[in-house]
Amino acid sequence: MQLGVCYYPEQWPRTMWADDAKRIAELGITHVRIAEFAWSRMEPRAGEFAWEWLDEAVETLAGAGLKLVLGTPTASPPKWLIDAYPDVLPVRADGTRWNFGSRRHYDISSETYRRECLRVVTAMAQRYGRHPSIVAWQTDNELGCHDTVPSYSPAALTRFQTWLRRRHESVEALNDAWGNVFWSMEYPSFEAIGLPNLTPTDANPIHLLDFRRFMSDEVAQFHREQIDVLREHAPTADLLHNFMGFFTTFDHYRFAKDNAIDVAAWDSYPIARTESIALPDEQKARYARTAHPDVSAFDHDRYRAIGSGRFWVMEQQAGPVNWAPWNPVPAKGMVRLWAYEAFAHGAELVSYFRWRQCPYAQEQMHSGLNLPNNELSPGGLEVQQAAREIAACAALSALGAPARATVAVVFDYETQWMFEIQRHGKTFDYQTLVFDYYESLRELGLDVDIVSSRVDLSAYALVVVPSIAVIDDALVNQIERSEAQWVFGPRSGSKTDSFAIPSTLPPGALQRVLPMQVLEVETLRPTLAPALSIDGARGVAIHWREHVRANGETHVDAQFDDTWPAVLSRGKVRYVAGWLSHALHRTLLEQAARDAGIETQRLAEGLRIRRRGDLTFAFNFGAQSVHVPAPADATFVLGNALLKTGDVCAWKDV
Ligand code: GAL
Repeated sequence: MQLGVCYYPEQWPRTMWADDAKRIAELGITHVRIAEFAWSRMEPRAGEFAWEWLDEAVETLAGAGLKLVLGTPTASPPKWLIDAYPDVLPVRADGTRWNFGSRRHYDISSETYRRECLRVVTAMAQRYGRHPSIVAWQTDNELGCHDTVPSYSPAALTRFQTWLRRRHESVEALNDAWGNVFWSMEYPSFEAIGLPNLTPTDANPIHLLDFRRFMSDEVAQFHREQIDVLREHAPTADLLHNFMGFFTTFDHYRFAKDNAIDVAAWDSYPIARTESIALPDEQKARYARTAHPDVSAFDHDRYRAIGSGRFWVMEQQAGPVNWAPWNPVPAKGMVRLWAYEAFAHGAELVSYFRWRQCPYAQEQMHSGLNLPNNELSPGGLEVQQAAREIAACAALSALGAPARATVAVVFDYETQWMFEIQRHGKTFDYQTLVFDYYESLRELGLDVDIVSSRVDLSAYALVVVPSIAVIDDALVNQIERSEAQWVFGPRSGSKTDSFAIPSTLPPGALQRVLPMQVLEVETLRPTLAPALSIDGARGVAIHWREHVRANGETHVDAQFDDTWPAVLSRGKVRYVAGWLSHALHRTLLEQAARDAGIETQRLAEGLRIRRRGDLTFAFNFGAQSVHVPAPADATFVLGNALLKTGDVCAWKDV
């Protein structure tokens, strides 16, 4: 359990650096991330590097015993670069270019920009790559943030055409796979294919999907180019990128493949995230100051599965932020709780954003561990408390590895893209559906791994697939081999890889293990809510419902009041023919867990638990104090069995 902080020496007078370094170390922080936006200071004019200030900053921090994470500065190209190469600015879907004057104003497909990035990263890596205190490097910053990917630039077009040629080999094959006979969309050559923007009505969904696949590969390749330089010059450092919460613009599994990262790091802003995702207003109100109890856990569990399993929180909310629709002050205790929560889910390091609130420029309303006058902020005081607790408690400072959960939730990036391209109803959002299932499992007190469908799933007792657009034979083979209970949600197996409806009807290849067919689907305005019961619990379908037919030995476990099947099963495989109201998902998963031999418990409102090593952690995000479900003879290493709002405890089962 190590703590870190993000620090920007270039934003403060040099006279403050030594004192900052000393106070950071005294607070119990071990890691400091620097430099990720400092290109204009590293290279004030083209080709003129000015490292002296960064040398001093590195030595000052290292001299205080701190370990450093160095960020490559490519998220903020300086003005001289944009003036020299204006085509580096990215192009929006409406054909206009973004301007200079904030950050992320670069086109990921621009070969000029890639060359410039490699130039600065190489110079930086040559200078600092073997510094003993620099333990990790971060590439760029939050790739894809601010909607700067995709870019609809001429550079993107050329590279997209090359990408298509590689994927489809001949334009005839592409026309066929894309179904371009429809509306006379056939192309005579790869060079004739455009980008899927500025069309009068919907572009062909597979054109949009292939463009998203291409852009996802572009992001991974952009990052990979920097990784190759860093591996050469910084061979012993951990290489990472700071991903974002609830972010699906590129396929993170593919991004992390082939050891392109050592650690999956992500940036956690729970309250701002709760405000900005599609949660019911009642939940946003209830959790306005604590954040929704699953909003960070969801991404902790997701990023643990990206790459090697090692994950860090590179930026952790330390108080009120500036970018959500509303930015409340967190409830007392939350800044401390979020660190323990991340550790309980397996994080090695939690690094707070940022050391001190910056009184000028875009983020002046964003808190840090210090107020602008350099006094510890309320969040800073909570971090101090957490650091002291961890240092004083051997059970906390030497925490075991997170155990593999018995429950897996499959998350699939391409499914997100397909259902964004074809929502069919304006409220259908795949990630929100996954989150709803995840929340249900966590309310039942379960630890969850969020994983790709392509990993070996044989060790899980329950595999929940809230939806997966394409079901391939490999996945069905896994089901056949496994002894787990499987739950598939609506729209599973509804598409082929070329974004068409399977010839055997949905759920496609799943019919091998669960004979059934989806005949018609409907999306539901809020006034259309087909009712049903499961195990005596009443509820409705929301957003999406299917009319399905059970074939062969498939059993209808539950039906809608209008008699259409709602839950179908055969042996260990269940299919849910709609997006059910939340309590029904929970009931359904309770049944599936029971069939899988997994014990569940219904946790009090806002309470969550998570096991790591021999400890069980409990967190209270709810408005009321609650008793945690610890055994009577449990030994508490942190707190006790009564948890106030915003409090955390941890115990060992005896
Ligand atoms: C992150 C970003 C940081 C900072 C922070 C503010 O998205 O990486 O640089 O802007 O948000 O919350």
